[in-house]
Amino acid sequence: MKKDAKKPSKYVARQPDEQGFIHYSDIEHQTWQRLIERQLKVVPGRACDEYLHGLELLDLPHDRIPQLDEISSVLRRETGWEVARVPALIGFETFFGLLADRKFPVATFIRTPEEFDYLQEPDIFHEIFGHCAMLTNPAFANFTQKYGQLGLSASPKERAYLARLYWFTVEFGLLNTEDGLRIYGGGILSSPKETLYALGNEPERYDFDVLDALRTPYRIDIVQPIYYVLNDLQQLQQLTEIDLMAKVRQAIELGLFEPRFPPKDAA
Ligand SMILES: [Fe+2]
Repeated sequence: MKKDAKKPSKYVARQPDEQGFIHYSDIEHQTWQRLIERQLKVVPGRACDEYLHGLELLDLPHDRIPQLDEISSVLRRETGWEVARVPALIGFETFFGLLADRKFPVATFIRTPEEFDYLQEPDIFHEIFGHCAMLTNPAFANFTQKYGQLGLSASPKERAYLARLYWFTVEFGLLNTEDGLRIYGGGILSSPKETLYALGNEPERYDFDVLDALRTPYRIDIVQPIYYVLNDLQQLQQLTEIDLMAKVRQAIELGLFEPRFPPKDAA
């Protein structure tokens, strides 16, 4: 879902019928199939084991877009999470409120074939394939809830800082493992290009530090020039146990780092 109710979306989230079933066209099911089959070729050996284990648990269909109930039943069993159907555009309050309630918002639309390779608005493929596998992991699941709880009571400025932490973990996080560098961020794992790029030689990678992540600017429309790397997913659990808002206030005081990318207009 896009958390900016000002910009109109060309997409409309699908409503369920009286039985609670969401219908999609053949083309939309084919888009899902092409996306999932392409991505399943690149994630083995690149996604972390926790993510791959989550995918196994979800057992996603290839030939059709899954219904949200199918996802929720697995998440509920594993971590008490579920997915919640939302419109393409929702406000921050709704977004944070759902996360705080262990409900992951999913806009029930899929990209058009014209936007097959890239779209800025997170569609059902990004939300389910990118994020739901990790939501079977307790540390990741707890951290995502904590983010929602903090966001609810944060000021707009504090939210902007918190959003960077979410960006460099839930969306674009990397993980050191015994087998080498792996990915857990859903923004990477739902993009074949970034899945390869994130582990390659081009980007800068730093050990995860919460203050650094809070202070690092990002752009949503480019592959990331910087990633932060966890040594253990338990670091996400630890973030739920510290006074994270004190870190946010500290980050605000210190200010943002210089961006490592050109401003949007010059790009
Ligand atoms: Fe996302």
